[in-house]
Amino acid sequence: MSQTLIDPQLLAQRRAEFLRRLGGAAAVIPAAPLVTHHADVEHAFRQNSDFWYLTGFDEPGAVALFLPHQPDNPFVLFVEPRDPSAEVWNGFRWGVEGAVQRFGADLAHPRSELAERLSGYLDGAEGIAFRVGRHPEVEPLVLQAWGRQLDRAPRSGHAALGLVSPCPLLHDMRLRKAPEELERLREAARISAEAHELARRVVRPGLSERQVQAVIEQHFLEQGARGPAYGSIVAGGDNACVLHYTANNASLKDGDLLLIDAGCSLSDYYNGDITRTFPINGRFTGEQRALYELVLAAQEAAVAAVGPGQTAEGVHATAVGVLVEGLLELGLLCGERDGIIEQGAYRHLYMHRTGHWLGLDVHDVGAYRLGEHPVVLEPGMVLTVEPGLYVSDRLAVPEGQPAIDERWKGIGIRIEDDVAVSEHGHENLTAAALKSVAAMER
Ligand code: GLY
Ligand code: MN
Ligand code: MN
Repeated sequence: MSQTLIDPQLLAQRRAEFLRRLGGAAAVIPAAPLVTHHADVEHAFRQNSDFWYLTGFDEPGAVALFLPHQPDNPFVLFVEPRDPSAEVWNGFRWGVEGAVQRFGADLAHPRSELAERLSGYLDGAEGIAFRVGRHPEVEPLVLQAWGRQLDRAPRSGHAALGLVSPCPLLHDMRLRKAPEELERLREAARISAEAHELARRVVRPGLSERQVQAVIEQHFLEQGARGPAYGSIVAGGDNACVLHYTANNASLKDGDLLLIDAGCSLSDYYNGDITRTFPINGRFTGEQRALYELVLAAQEAAVAAVGPGQTAEGVHATAVGVLVEGLLELGLLCGERDGIIEQGAYRHLYMHRTGHWLGLDVHDVGAYRLGEHPVVLEPGMVLTVEPGLYVSDRLAVPEGQPAIDERWKGIGIRIEDDVAVSEHGHENLTAAALKSVAAMER
């Protein structure tokens, strides 16, 4: 079990803010369970990010209660108790005492007592904040406790009547990164960028994608990260046109490009997410260079569009605008710019969005739209900017658009940086991973 400890004051501040936002509702926030992937072999434990953000407690199977109606004891943890015979197999547990002494719980109990105690803790709450559909082990207990509250309502005159989601409140908090969190994202970005620089130096024809993956992930581990934040994508040639390619088992070919999408996850779960694309033999062909320069121009324009008062939709629209204009010039699209964008007649070449929030989750939480309105970027928000072009036969060319000449096929390019919104503009957290045409060649 990891012993990573988060600043207790920072955690206490987050909890106080969450309790304030809950109003009269009591929140039930479960930890992640251990996940088995074959036979009885478990994946390395990965804490639930909501639970981690509020508790800094890195053990499976726990449950946190946040009880604004109980101001003297608003933070209650249910945890697996100390147990030498279990700890000899799976490692140290903080137990009930540790939950109070090291993690600031006002009260703590063994997890096995949740079923009998939950309804009592909800007495006096106006509602229950719990994310239905995500926590199969805890959900029946919450529904049962809610049922008991409803049974009691006619006699007591009040009960936790409504079940609501804690996500909008909590994810709005997680969307705005505190200075301490930005520091951690800078560290994840640093290690991830270094790994990309190392990988580019070793790449040559004949190496396997997996050998390049090994260089990247070795660096993550050497630097103290938990490992990759997501399945590293090391995709030579046409494999780069498969957006979620993770087989990484092909041999790198002279004349192809290599797309690497990889980032590390730190001990406290903050993530990097970087993509770079470069020629395996050190020299772009004419077609590769033309498309690379276009994606780079789109990416740089999109990064420049990140700033307070802007929107992620605006960032995406900027990238799409540059890509479509360039594709028209290259003859890979035909017609009129705005019409192509409106109809999405470029989507056989660029089929994903330009970015996502980044934080404790790689595809981090937080709304992109509130009703009709796109969320406006504010200092502390962090997003990826990752336009690309993927030329293959997989998607049909839309009616009215030109057939693609063979010389372009098998070229997949993405360039991805992690960008924090700052007071007056933005900070590119991953600028240390080079991306100019000159840097990609050797
Ligand atoms: N590596 C996942 C993504 O770029 O969204
Ligand atoms: Mn990525
Ligand atoms: Mn990404």
